[in-house]
Amino acid sequence: MKPGIRHFLQLKDLSRDELDYLFERTLWIKRQFKAYQRYWPLADRTLVMIFEKASTRTRLSFEAGIQQLGGSAIYLNTRDSQLGRGEPVEDAAQVISRMSDLVMIRTFEQDIIERFAANSRVPVINGLTNEYHPCQIMADIFTYIEHRGPIQGKTVAWIGDSNNMCNTWLQAAEVLDFRVHVSTPPGYEIEPERAGLVGTDHFEQFADPMEAARGADIVTTDVWTSMGFEAENEERLKDFADWQVDGDMMRVAKPDAIFLHCLPAHRGEEVTAEVIDGPHSLVWEEAENRLHAQKALMEFLLLGRIES
Ligand code: CP
Ligand code: NVA
Repeated sequence: MKPGIRHFLQLKDLSRDELDYLFERTLWIKRQFKAYQRYWPLADRTLVMIFEKASTRTRLSFEAGIQQLGGSAIYLNTRDSQLGRGEPVEDAAQVISRMSDLVMIRTFEQDIIERFAANSRVPVINGLTNEYHPCQIMADIFTYIEHRGPIQGKTVAWIGDSNNMCNTWLQAAEVLDFRVHVSTPPGYEIEPERAGLVGTDHFEQFADPMEAARGADIVTTDVWTSMGFEAENEERLKDFADWQVDGDMMRVAKPDAIFLHCLPAHRGEEVTAEVIDGPHSLVWEEAENRLHAQKALMEFLLLGRIES
């Protein structure tokens, strides 16, 4: 890794102090934006966005976000760039990072983004890998703080697949000192090493999803089949049938519990319409907060701390 460059490849790349700063900064940036205050600290800066998987929210929030900060974005995908024709990721990183100020990548294995970052002259942001989705969890935690206050000491119930979202919640719990109650179907349990955990103090596994949700402050889930795992879809539909977040599950959580989902969602699979469209759900605020949180992140990676 080049000295002095900060990347955001997994959530724990930022310390608790830095995340707390970013949550405060996100609020300031959001308020300025809502008040139509022009704020262009990244004028003339270029963000390159590389997508090897589909996206609506991530592309939109990064592209709109850098423009709102005065910069511009370039979108590349595997289909119509040399990335899909076998150019080594190390070579791509050398070239792309000489022509830009910041790179966001959505790809498959974490190793790909690590190799890119190791050869990049500019900060690299993880826009989702098979292992992690740190930008999403920043927005999710900001949403909780915005609506309910500090997350330290709280309990997050993770219901469903031990995927990139689950791994990132688990990492966040260690950095920010909260707990995750995880319930996955047999055979889909979390892998602490793959999740990049340092210990076992911040999570507990439950065979029964209702028990994981009991008393939780946040109940959250995600699709049963993540991008890249489509061949397993039919089997997963059967295996995950009892891991649906429904009204009964929300009723055993805290009365003021919130429901989060990174989206896109499948009503009738991992969550019922009653829950995602119901009073506990903050999914639209959560999606919007991607924009504000990532603007704070891009500003931090390029300019460091700014006094609000
Ligand atoms: N939540 C999320 O990352 O959505 P997209 O796949 O639409 O970017
Ligand atoms: N876990 C999902 C998240 C999509 C935003 C996936 O990786 O497909």
